[in-house]
Amino acid sequence: MKVTAFNGSPRKEGNTKLLIERTLDRLAKHNIETEIVQVGGNLLWGCQSCYVCFKTKSGRCRIDNDAMNSFIEKVHSSDAIILASPTYYGEVSAEMKAFLDRLGLTSIGAGRTLTHKIGAALVSVRRSGAVPVYDSLNRFMLGSGMVVVGSTHWNAAIGEMPGDIFEDAEGMHNADDLGEQLAWMLKVHSGARVDSGFEHQTSFSNYFK
Ligand SMILES: Cc1cc2nc3c(=O)[nH]c(=O)nc-3n(C[C@H](O)[C@H](O)[C@H](O)COP(=O)(O)O)c2cc1C
Repeated sequence: MKVTAFNGSPRKEGNTKLLIERTLDRLAKHNIETEIVQVGGNLLWGCQSCYVCFKTKSGRCRIDNDAMNSFIEKVHSSDAIILASPTYYGEVSAEMKAFLDRLGLTSIGAGRTLTHKIGAALVSVRRSGAVPVYDSLNRFMLGSGMVVVGSTHWNAAIGEMPGDIFEDAEGMHNADDLGEQLAWMLKVHSGARVDSGFEHQTSFSNYFK
């Protein structure tokens, strides 16, 4: 079993990474393989709305001169993913937004390939605005048919400069708890791969009828 965390912070050794590591350490105690993929700080195009991924159904993005397709492969080869972002003006980082848009559209185009994948959100914040970030990450996963795992509170921790986050004892404990709950869900989920034959909607035209 493998859990991959996507770090949306361009500050590679910052609070978001420290928070991710806290959750991944708990998973490692359960002998679950983990990896951190650095999304922030990469030059990533936003979605170009070309819908080529709906025609090819390959799960790949037509834009092939950035790291997005390698990120998409990492998502699909993982049993669970963690989407982690710092709070930037009450939103996810720009790179995380580009990542979500392109991951979302390519997976719908390929037939809703995120369905039933386990996911969790993690947010770092200096003071306020974490809830909309948490909400954005969770909405992405819930709208993709993913199984979203929570903890004892909303998964956010407070800190400004790298390392400050350790002072937020409740936030760090929350990250530990998330690791435990992800480990539990991975075990439950491993016996639950049932294909109901249900056809998940991949066309949006009904919205306007
Ligand atoms: C461009 C920018 C915008 C930010 N906006 C907010 C904000 O809206 N609210 C807040 O509490 N902190 C804000 N912060 C602070 C970061 O969310 C905080 O320092 C976080 O811990 C950074 O995580 P990192 O160390 O992984 O980069 C902002 C920081 C930057 C660079």
